[in-house]
Amino acid sequence: MAPIRNTRVLFNSVPQGYPVPGETTVVDHSQTLDLDAVDLAGGKVLAKTLSISIDPYLRGKMRSPEKKTYNQPFEIGKPLYSHAVVKVLRSENPKYKAGDYVYGVFDWAEYQVFSEGLDARVLPPDSGIPWSVYVGVAGMPGKTAYYGWKEIAKAKKGETIYVSTAAGPVGSVVVQLAKAEGLKVIASAGQESKLQFLRDLGADVVFNYKTTSVEKVLEEHGPVDIFWDHVGGSTTNTVLAHMNTFGRVVVIGSISSYNTPQAEPIANFPHILYKRLTVRGLIVTDHEKEYRDAFYATIPGQIARGEIKYTETIVRSLDEAPQLLLDVQKGDNTGKAVVILADD
Ligand SMILES: NC(=O)c1ccc[n+]([C@@H]2O[C@H](COP(=O)([O-])OP(=O)(O)OC[C@H]3O[C@@H](n4cnc5c(N)ncnc54)[C@H](OP(=O)(O)O)[C@@H]3O)[C@@H](O)[C@H]2O)c1
Repeated sequence: MAPIRNTRVLFNSVPQGYPVPGETTVVDHSQTLDLDAVDLAGGKVLAKTLSISIDPYLRGKMRSPEKKTYNQPFEIGKPLYSHAVVKVLRSENPKYKAGDYVYGVFDWAEYQVFSEGLDARVLPPDSGIPWSVYVGVAGMPGKTAYYGWKEIAKAKKGETIYVSTAAGPVGSVVVQLAKAEGLKVIASAGQESKLQFLRDLGADVVFNYKTTSVEKVLEEHGPVDIFWDHVGGSTTNTVLAHMNTFGRVVVIGSISSYNTPQAEPIANFPHILYKRLTVRGLIVTDHEKEYRDAFYATIPGQIARGEIKYTETIVRSLDEAPQLLLDVQKGDNTGKAVVILADD
């Protein structure tokens, strides 16, 4: 077979502020692959990429290597990578066979050659949900909601939860878990279509944080027993003052500071003492061993039966991936941001 193009998205330079498509990330069409001739000696696998996840945390990996945090930075000149679903074309690795659908962390490239596959898992071929969903509510973001719910939320029927960034793949699963367990749900997002989705999920109080003050909403509908925090900064500061005694703050994200030099200060920190709050951060990868099997035994089936709902913002080419990466940072995506390169 003649060599074919293998389009990739490369990390080109560290952004100052928001990522800039074509500058901080570049789409590269120069690589070619002969799919029949790629050498797989030593247990390698050749796979075609089906769906790639575009996540808010990827901005944090677009940094210079001397800045240390919980994850590794992307390497300049190398492809970006994130959770994805790929289909195995050829394999010399006993763990994978041709035709397998594999979820794991993969390059932003049309084709992949890998050995182990970071966080890799062979997916059932007939689960009844699209592959893209395995990088959304049935993948890392859904796990974040499920693991945090089990590990930290300690929800009791009748309690009140406030979920910020509630319409995304993490927040929307939290909203649905909370409604299923009989909580009163206050949910915010930044666009009307997202607010409608939240109403459809049954959230009790839905508001646009860009046009309605969090303070006012919580004065009327609080106090809050569980704050599911995706945003940080002034939102977190406000919510701390509206927590109930012995409340739980589940710190999952801090997107208000992902594109700024530093996070806003939290002046209401003393409320953690006054209200005897539990404030705990969660990184999803820390809890795979405890909750992964229960997650896969529960959530994909609920999605297939329509018991857990989701929305997606889809692009169908890697050429559009850098813009979608920016859109996620700015809130211009309306659902789980995903690049679908092929359905099968
Ligand atoms: N700890 C972990 O292991 C883990 C794992 C996965 C995700 N996360 C975090 O969870 C959060 C949600 O992730 P997701 O995948 O569900 O994201 P998402 O909803 O698909 O996309 C991010 C959303 O953040 C909102 N946003 C952007 N800037 C904001 C700001 N300044 N203030 C308030 N909201 C802002 C936007 O929605 P609006 O229209 O509502 O503004 C945007 O659409 C993120 O903070 C992410 O980093 C953490």
